[in-house]
Amino acid sequence: MAIMDARPGRVRPAPENFLTDEQIAAVKDGRRDFLRKAFLTASAVMAGPTVARAAAAGDPAILELPPWSTSLGQSVAANPYGMPSKFERALARRESPGLTRVGGSSVAFTPLQGLFGIITPSGLHFERHHQGWHDVDPSQHRLMVNGLVKTNAVFTMDDIMRLPSVSRIHFIECGANTGMEWGNVAVPTVQYSHGMLSCSEFTGVALKELLDMCGADYRKGRFVLAEGADGSSMTRTIPMELIESGEVLVAYGMNGEMLRPENGYPLRLVVPGVQGVSWVKWLRRIEVGDKPWASKDEAVHYIDLMPDGQHRQYTSLQECKSVITTPSGGQLLLDKGFYNVSGMAWSGRGKVTRVDVSTDGGINWRQARLETPVLSKAVTRFNIDWVWDGKPAILQSRAVDETGYVQPSYGQLRKVRGTKSIYHNNAIQSWKVAESGEVSNVQVL
Ligand code: MTE
Repeated sequence: MAIMDARPGRVRPAPENFLTDEQIAAVKDGRRDFLRKAFLTASAVMAGPTVARAAAAGDPAILELPPWSTSLGQSVAANPYGMPSKFERALARRESPGLTRVGGSSVAFTPLQGLFGIITPSGLHFERHHQGWHDVDPSQHRLMVNGLVKTNAVFTMDDIMRLPSVSRIHFIECGANTGMEWGNVAVPTVQYSHGMLSCSEFTGVALKELLDMCGADYRKGRFVLAEGADGSSMTRTIPMELIESGEVLVAYGMNGEMLRPENGYPLRLVVPGVQGVSWVKWLRRIEVGDKPWASKDEAVHYIDLMPDGQHRQYTSLQECKSVITTPSGGQLLLDKGFYNVSGMAWSGRGKVTRVDVSTDGGINWRQARLETPVLSKAVTRFNIDWVWDGKPAILQSRAVDETGYVQPSYGQLRKVRGTKSIYHNNAIQSWKVAESGEVSNVQVL
């Protein structure tokens, strides 16, 4: 039977928005085990009444004209800034209950399970702040360039926005993405396991352009310090080679408009392929220096705890990784039949060249279709046909990038990295489909 002849299956979305305030408080009190149980109960409740398949003949939804076909619609500019349909309101950024104590120093995860293609809508771009966000007045914002340069300079936003601009599509992934899963399965849905990932078109000026204007000493000055204007004084060292490549941008635009305040308005650093923490938001200072700064955000945080107890510093590149976003944890397959298995793959080293998908926990693999565009250091969408026969299955995706690097299994990654780290977990993700159709997060070594 040709795959498309199979009766199409239906996916019930993940029940992300069901925890009550009391339940969230319970999780915050440290009862983490409760979280998993709560997710499972909610999936079971949602599994209850199955939607009756609309009978092709006699379906009132096609036979009777609905109000929107027989009345005048709303006026233009009723929403001067357009918003998604009210029917899509469950698709939202969410905080993982109990993850942090203070909202100003927390994460809101992107709902990857509900996105199509490669671009993250700006309102769903994940947020990670160390000390909250502000809506900074662009007329008051300044960028200073100092250190090993001939002329120190202070730029206004007008100064920067007058310079030659470029627009590029790149992913940004927090180094802590999937960080809760190092030891064992910790979170139920892809929003929380992989949602510190977004992909946008960024517009700005190459940082090299500004450094050239200031007469940077490229011989001695092999490092740059980037500093943010928020209360966390976020500071990160960026190697000069990355800046010399022209890839690092001082960006003001995201997806065709100005950056959103949560994402660094009016100015942020874009460091393609490098972990999110280096994409300094509310960028106010660039210093050229001759050695890495070992600042608090690179000496205490964002370092890898290795199995021998040592910490590894400056592992900034986000290695090749992928994840199936549908079907994924918390969702429910309502019928046997055809499913379009869809997911995202990305690599901090360049383009994704191949994604293989397994439906039997890694025994057999089939090559997925990479959808265009396939861009360097951007998310690539992949799809593959699958007919679910109603038996238990384990779905996995494994990405390969243009350097030939193959995304590792948990077994392979843990051999090198142990289980106690927080950062840079790019292991193959497994979703178990039970006979009941319930999809859950599992780990396969
Ligand atoms: N820049 C400043 N100034 N302050 C911050 O707290 N957080 C960093 C980085 N840049 C941060 C910052 C971290 S840890 C990440 S992962 C990314 O911003 C998140 O970017 P986003 O909030 O636009 O997703």
